[in-house]
Amino acid sequence: MNAIPSADARLNIPAHVRHQRLIAWVAEMAALTGARDVYWCDGSDEEYDRLCGQLVDAGTLIRLNPELRPHSFLARSSPGDVARVEDRTFICCENKQDAGPTNNWVAPSEMRALLQTGEKALFKGCMRGRTMYVVPFSMGPLGSPIAHIGVELSDSGYVAVNMKIMTRMGRGAIDVLGTDGDFVPCMHTVGAPLEPGQKDVAWPCNDTKYIVHYPETREIWSYGSGYGGNALLGKKCFALRIASWMGRAAANEGTPWLAEHMLLLGVTSPEGRKHHVAAAFPSACGKTNFAMLVPPAGFEGWKVTTIGDDIAWIKPDADGRLHAINPEAGYFGVAPGTNEKTNPNCMASLARDVIFTNVALTDDGDVWWEGMTDAPPAHCIDWQGKDWTPAIGKETGAKAAHPNARFTVAATNNPVLDPEWDNPKGVAIDAFIFGGRRSTTVPLVTEARNWVEGVYMAATMGSETTAAIIGQQGVVRRDPFAMLPFTGYNMSDYFRHWLAMGERIAALCAKSGAKVPKIYCVNWFRKGADGKFVWPGYGENMRVLKWMLDRVEGRGEGFDQVFGTSPRYEDLNWTGLDFPPARFQQVTSIDPEAWHAEMKLHQELFDKLAWHLPPELSATKARIEERLAA
Ligand code: GTP
Ligand code: SPV
Ligand code: MN
Repeated sequence: MNAIPSADARLNIPAHVRHQRLIAWVAEMAALTGARDVYWCDGSDEEYDRLCGQLVDAGTLIRLNPELRPHSFLARSSPGDVARVEDRTFICCENKQDAGPTNNWVAPSEMRALLQTGEKALFKGCMRGRTMYVVPFSMGPLGSPIAHIGVELSDSGYVAVNMKIMTRMGRGAIDVLGTDGDFVPCMHTVGAPLEPGQKDVAWPCNDTKYIVHYPETREIWSYGSGYGGNALLGKKCFALRIASWMGRAAANEGTPWLAEHMLLLGVTSPEGRKHHVAAAFPSACGKTNFAMLVPPAGFEGWKVTTIGDDIAWIKPDADGRLHAINPEAGYFGVAPGTNEKTNPNCMASLARDVIFTNVALTDDGDVWWEGMTDAPPAHCIDWQGKDWTPAIGKETGAKAAHPNARFTVAATNNPVLDPEWDNPKGVAIDAFIFGGRRSTTVPLVTEARNWVEGVYMAATMGSETTAAIIGQQGVVRRDPFAMLPFTGYNMSDYFRHWLAMGERIAALCAKSGAKVPKIYCVNWFRKGADGKFVWPGYGENMRVLKWMLDRVEGRGEGFDQVFGTSPRYEDLNWTGLDFPPARFQQVTSIDPEAWHAEMKLHQELFDKLAWHLPPELSATKARIEERLAA
């Protein structure tokens, strides 16, 4: 390898940056990576347009037809870099038990040798011939007591412009940092240095990938991918894996908090009563859609508003109420399946100012994806840049858009953005919902009898895998709290943290008179013998949501079953929907045989998580089994 040139001359430190630790780190990383130069992002609109222009010139972005899709771009990734890589994701803490059996673990010293210090360390010289972007950002409203600052160093301009949309990025974050503020260093490279004279490709990346977290020192090191959660390090890496560790570590100072894979929404009744709900569904299982729900016929005067669509940071106040913020500022959402009927608010959000990744390009310079319209275009260019027609699709099975094709768009484009979305104090949560994608077994909705049973339901949740993750799809796996790939520490300790949080808020609520949030388990995805979803889903999920809120208000009826309380047919409002009792039965029935098999899978999970597994969960399981046997 060539000698690494001295960094100082290329640092370009702006006058407003007065944080010596930050400057020293940038200098050190510029030297390590051999970056050609350093560019400090200020987060301005002018900068965004300039960087997008450069990415268009480089071939990374395609400018869409400004008349059809103003101020919007399309990126096509390398075909091997299309989703999160869970098997390449590592939690590197000193003690293997602290990462636990659900995370990949490598000792920090070993990983540092591999990435930074060893003779052939991957980050040595990894940015040769490229610009290193310094991307300062706030997760959460600038200056919010729940927010935290990160700085991502990346050799991807695509990452820089996506971070502008997804976070509060730029000068504001630098100002919050001041001369000595704390930040999470997020190191990112696509792992594709350019030799002198070498021509770049549209989507540089590397077959070797490492998504690495050092939770004890709160560092992230990501190598080889430019895609989504692998590369936009504020999102899963910081806001979930590192933050979940931080929230639990804060319990030692008496200020525990939660970092969760949850959407946040507000529901306002026709009488003006407002509730807030946090819902955890695994990747590509309906968070963005639920967060933008349009109440259907029969719910005139109801309004659902979005606070967040993917991540929530949650802290208890002195009265025991749980306050949640959305640490993000934009949506990196699934395109396929999104259309005017299922999610009109999302379609309106995407009218302009969007970066699309891996969708199809129509002949008139707009975008298309499977499920966007009933009829596909007669011809388009698919996500790999190839000609695509419905006939080709039929013959080869090729999709026009990749199943994990995504849009990046600012929250402020959302017509139903909640007025409180940017409130530094967050919103107070009334109910938690946990839901997986299950074609069988799990009923439409169940209310846990208490916090511990709710934690049990969330902990044992299963879901069929989706295109959001590299690997086999449609396989049921346990996905506790929809956090399997995102809990940055031992899963059993995570369950303990949730149980402890429940006890803590129950004690505070007992004094203040505030209510402990209720916990629900839902499944929108039961299928009939024809292989089709039985429940219409999307806006119709409002019927279930309304029942939950009735219960929160102490009004809704239901009946006691094995796991908790569920609505009878007559307990839901069916105005405006033809969904006869027989179909309701199909999505709510509990098949004892299927549940005996399911309980075996719960036990398998508990066996795997035996170390530190809270005894309350095994006790809850025993009670459920007794009821199942009865
Ligand atoms: P991530 O961004 O990966 O975390 O996904 P998400 O949880 O936000 O999922 P999203 O709302 O983007 O939905 C993923 C896919 O599920 C899309 O293709 C949706 O059309 C589909 N989907 C969402 N909600 C429903 C529903 O209620 N019923 C059915 N059948 N499909 C749904
Ligand atoms: C998910 O997979 O849950 C996502 C997409 O939200 S990514 O940002 O790629 O993680
Ligand atoms: Mn997600």
